[in-house]
This record gives sequence, structure tokens and C-alpha cells, in this order.
Amino acid sequence: MVAAGGTPLEIRYPFGQMHNLPEYSVSHPPIADAARQAEFRRLMGLFATGVCVIAFNRNDGKGSDSAISAMTINSLVSVSLDPMLLCWSLQNDASQYEEYLAAETFSFSILADGQQVLARRYAARGDTALHADDFGRSDAGLPFVKGALATFECRRWKHYPAGDHTMILGEVEAMSNADGTAPALGFFEGRFCAIEA
Ligand SMILES: Cc1cc2nc3c(=O)[nH]c(=O)nc-3n(C[C@H](O)[C@H](O)[C@H](O)COP(=O)(O)O)c2cc1C
Repeated sequence: MVAAGGTPLEIRYPFGQMHNLPEYSVSHPPIADAARQAEFRRLMGLFATGVCVIAFNRNDGKGSDSAISAMTINSLVSVSLDPMLLCWSLQNDASQYEEYLAAETFSFSILADGQQVLARRYAARGDTALHADDFGRSDAGLPFVKGALATFECRRWKHYPAGDHTMILGEVEAMSNADGTAPALGFFEGRFCAIEA
């Protein structure tokens, strides 16, 4: 069950609310690119997803002053079982684009309902104040979000240019899950929502 609620996000990534757009159903005469993109966003916003945070050590854990980078994403997809691969899409104009692309290891933390504040925190553009308390460390030293439903630790595998995004694949090296069965945090029509079994 998906229960929509909460206030619409200011950030419209990737498929935010576009309720006030004029409706149209035919593509002739040609629709301006901006309107077509808005329609694409609005319709794909109907594809409900989970929400996760990708995180990595900016110096890959080497040295004691390893700093964490983290970003809220919903483009995570599982791609392959053998090898075990996950993929996400990184926007090419991300302020830490090079760093995300270069990270040799990174983690995905699947957020639980109730972690909206954290999801908004790591969706903010620019230099966000990273709360070290949000993160624990795996045995391998990778940061992961405390209280997440599940965590996957990956090693960079390949990446592919994809329009205004870059698809980054990681091979899963370790995974874990929290005790219990809390509802997941979802994203639907530009809003966070709870996803319950
Ligand atoms: C629900 C949600 C899902 C998002 N998914 C992605 C994603 O898959 N890929 C991405 O690059 N940005 C995604 N974003 C946007 C990033 O979180 C945001 O642009 C980023 O944190 C800003 O960092 P920057 O200042 O480094 O560009 C998403 C945002 C939200 C709210």
C-alpha cells in the first residue's frame, strides 16, 4: 500500500510535482521540448520508487581523516545476479560529479519511513551540512545510514554516459539488513510516502 502524504518537495528531482501544467494528450502539432520534458517527468512520477542514500569516503577510507559524501537518490535498480550488480544514475551537473564517478567503493542505504528529514538533508544542493551521527561504518569502513532497511556495499564496476546522466554500476561485496519489518520510504508524484507490505 502506498500512502502519499507530506509536503511536496522543493527539489523536483527527478520527477517532481507538475500538477498545474496544462493537459494535453496528442503530440501533434509538435510540443516544445520543455513541455515534453515536463510531461515526461509528471508521468514518470507515477512510477513509485523507494528512496536510498548513496555514500562513500572521499578518500576511500585511506587515512584517518576520511570524510563522507552522501546523496539521496531513487534511481537505484538491481541489474544482475551473477555478478551481483546494482546501477544508479548520477546527474552530470552534480557538484561532486567527479568524486562520485571516481569512488572505488560506495554504499546504498535503503531508507525506512520516518527518515524523510534525512532524505531531504542529502537531497539539498551544494555543500550540505553532513551529520556524522546519521552514519555508521561497516567492517570495511564504508559509511551507511543508521536505521536503514538494508545496506549494500559495492565496488565500482563500470559506468556509461546516458544523456544528462551517467549510469554507474557497482558490484555488491557485502549486504545487511535491519531487524524487523518497518515500512519503506517511498517517492511518488514528487512526494515522500510510506510503503507498507
Ligand atoms: C527522491 C529523490 C531522488 C533523487 N534521485 C537522484 C538520482 O537518482 N540521481 C541524482 O543524481 N540525483 C538524485 N536526486 C537529487 C540529489 O539528491 C541532489 O541533486 C543532490 O543531493 C544535490 O547535490 P549536488 O549539490 O552535489 O548536485 C534525487 C533527489 C530526490 C529528492
